[in-house]
Amino acid sequence: MTTAAAESVLDCVGNTPIVTLRRLFPEPDVEVLAKLELMNPGGSMKDRSARFIVEGGLSDGTLRAGSTLIESSSGNFGVALAMAARVHDLRFTCVVDPKTTRANLALLRHLGADVDMVDDTDAHGGYLGSRLRRVRELLAERPGAVWINQYANERNPQAFYHGIGAELVDQLPAAPTVLFGPVSTTGSLLGSARRLRERFPDLRVTAVDAAGSVIFGGRPGSASCPGSAPAAFRNCAGPTRSTTSCTSPTPTPRSPAANCCRRRGSSRADRAAR
Ligand SMILES: Cc1ncc(COP(=O)(O)O)c(C=O)c1O
Repeated sequence: MTTAAAESVLDCVGNTPIVTLRRLFPEPDVEVLAKLELMNPGGSMKDRSARFIVEGGLSDGTLRAGSTLIESSSGNFGVALAMAARVHDLRFTCVVDPKTTRANLALLRHLGADVDMVDDTDAHGGYLGSRLRRVRELLAERPGAVWINQYANERNPQAFYHGIGAELVDQLPAAPTVLFGPVSTTGSLLGSARRLRERFPDLRVTAVDAAGSVIFGGRPGSASCPGSAPAAFRNCAGPTRSTTSCTSPTPTPRSPAANCCRRRGSSRADRAAR
């Protein structure tokens, strides 16, 4: 039997499987399903937004073969963009910082990206401000270069509306109660939630990030793992923080995620996420 071969690794992005996490959540009244985004060719869901943004730019003429892409990323999005740039004959400069893992630096270089390392911290003691300043310098030095800017790029949430969201609508065996997702730009959770709520209007959405993140308005702290909460599931031990409605107020033997699946949310954070 022969099967059609994909034209490139980019054609292998998406259509990831879902798996029931019975050993992690053995409680009989809870079913937790995980979508295995690590099975994308670049190793994360960021492959979806990188592909969607690059191919969207090529089809509307904002990008063409030989164009230079610039992006600030300390992790997965950079790797995904390097892969998309390589397949489509684009140049890519990735602005990184000293927290970028050696593995990601090696991947970026092997994929042909130009790696631009900042080493000075910004006014908050982090690197984000320094990376963005370096992006602006590079844009000024290279006329015609395109800043992907995943934080403001509308194709970012759209990639997940058409990707993870649409796939889950077909894959889920029953209406889900809660969608949990890691957040950084929030594009993936926003796009997935929009698509899922068209089919399941009562769906609750809970955003998760590492403790020390300022996304939920908390005090800044130092995060030792690059990327986002999926890293917590990949042996990056450390506390994670979800929207307050979902974490148990006192420690219980049940996991916060399992508690969340049981309780109907009515807190302000729940309503805000709707
Ligand atoms: C593997 C992975 N998944 C999810 C996220 C969060 O995605 P988003 O930027 O869409 O909020 C990140 C962010 O860096 C990530 O690295």
